[in-house]
Amino acid sequence: MTSDLIEVRDLGKSFPGAGGAVPVLRGISLSVRRGEVLAVVGPSGSGKSTLLYCLSGLEPATSGTVRVLGRGLEALGRGALAELRRDHLGFIFQDYNLIPSLTARENVALPARLAKRRVDAAEVDRALADVGLADRAGFRPSALSGGQRQRVAVARVLAVRPDVVFADEPTGALDTESGARVLALLRRAASDGRSVVMVTHDVEAAAGADRVLVLRDGLVHRELVRPDAATVSEAIAHAGVRG
Ligand SMILES: Nc1ncnc2c1ncn2[C@@H]1O[C@H](COP(=O)(O)OP(=O)(O)O)[C@@H](O)[C@H]1O
Ligand SMILES: [Mg+2]
Repeated sequence: MTSDLIEVRDLGKSFPGAGGAVPVLRGISLSVRRGEVLAVVGPSGSGKSTLLYCLSGLEPATSGTVRVLGRGLEALGRGALAELRRDHLGFIFQDYNLIPSLTARENVALPARLAKRRVDAAEVDRALADVGLADRAGFRPSALSGGQRQRVAVARVLAVRPDVVFADEPTGALDTESGARVLALLRRAASDGRSVVMVTHDVEAAAGADRVLVLRDGLVHRELVRPDAATVSEAIAHAGVRG
């Protein structure tokens, strides 16, 4: 019995293409430990988003195993997988996935409502205040800027305190100050035995992680432990060089 929240062995993922299956992940092994922020970096198209989808059960692996909280995703039926995701995992989507007809507050309250849990209004408002949007709670996404929408998406996930938060470019639309605030919230979320797996292009954000995986062509090219920003930059640049 391991205490890792996620264990991945030889994960492969292919998508159907015109000329046959196109491999996107080509044998990735990793673990996500309790309490850590793990950053995933690499050139565009290297498989970062696909990796997050496979780890969080949004996409099935083509080969290999993904264990989340000790359970092999490949062996779970649809219902059990949905339940695991609902009760333990949170996903901050790169394009936010907010419901346009709902206000910011209603969007943040949605996961609890869907899980048929009591919605704690104070918790919802606190989550919005944490991302600096207390004064925008009654606004629909169409009345919010891109950065504000992204912060609603962050609040919606953090409000339910998942065991693992997956975040795909969670600061991509944010200015430096809002970005730093969100990163601090993610750091806080990776505590009490919980953890964060974050895809980012932001070298400074990656440098704030406990470990950084550098992907290249669907493989883990390098693993950096508490690297500084210059080391992350260099590793990304090197991963971008095709040879
Ligand atoms: N649903 C899909 N169907 C077909 N190809 C996909 C799909 N999702 C991603 N890909 C391909 O997989 C590769 C990696 O994509 P992605 O994981 O989004 O990379 P990254 O997030 O690192 O930019 C890209 O070549 C992309 O076109
Ligand atoms: Mg991506």
